[in-house]
Amino acid sequence: MEALGPRRLSIDDLASCCDLDRLALGGLWTPLQWRRELEDPDRLCLGLSQGPRQGPRQGEVLEALATGSVIHDELHVSVVAVHPERQRLGLGRRVLEALVWQAHLLGCRRATLEVAEANRAALSLYASLGFRTAGRRRSYYRNGDDALIQWAPLGPGLDAG
Ligand SMILES: CC(C)(COP(=O)(O)OP(=O)(O)OC[C@H]1O[C@@H](n2cnc3c(N)ncnc32)[C@H](O)[C@@H]1OP(=O)(O)O)[C@@H](O)C(=O)NCCC(=O)NCCS
Repeated sequence: MEALGPRRLSIDDLASCCDLDRLALGGLWTPLQWRRELEDPDRLCLGLSQGPRQGPRQGEVLEALATGSVIHDELHVSVVAVHPERQRLGLGRRVLEALVWQAHLLGCRRATLEVAEANRAALSLYASLGFRTAGRRRSYYRNGDDALIQWAPLGPGLDAG
């Protein structure tokens, strides 16, 4: 088994995305929402897998994903998730850097996302990639947590990851 990617995810990855979402995020989206994410041409969905270097994709295990929408010159990041058994190994940074780089190549000048104020791991990852808090949505999440709205400039100095 070797580390594969980052690669563009497709509708063939629907079941893997649902599985990873359930494991890492407790099932943020329904299969229908994932289908829309994977089929919409204005969305970028990237993944990192482990699997045989050659041969069918059936042997692959999706370990990390990052998705977002390109809206004019902005990347709106929607999901970043890493398999619980593979966290803190640099995969989250790698897949998010790849997403941001792809968006930059498509002409995006800045990126935005929403993150729960209590999610220290995600906040720390986003801060290391240049995201800064610009606003707050009070009681945005089901558990009553506030969401922080963050932005990062995309431009010269970006690393291809
Ligand atoms: C948040 C998440 C994507 C981070 O992915 P990851 O692969 O574990 O993170 P990385 O190994 O790439 O770490 C990159 C940086 O993020 C920060 N970080 C990651 N996990 C952290 C943790 N548990 N505590 C504090 N900082 C953390 C660190 O700054 C780290 O850099 P360092 O290792 O040099 O200190 C992952 O924990 C995850 O999937 N969490 C559940 C889903 C989620 O909350 N997604 C975000 C909202 S959609």
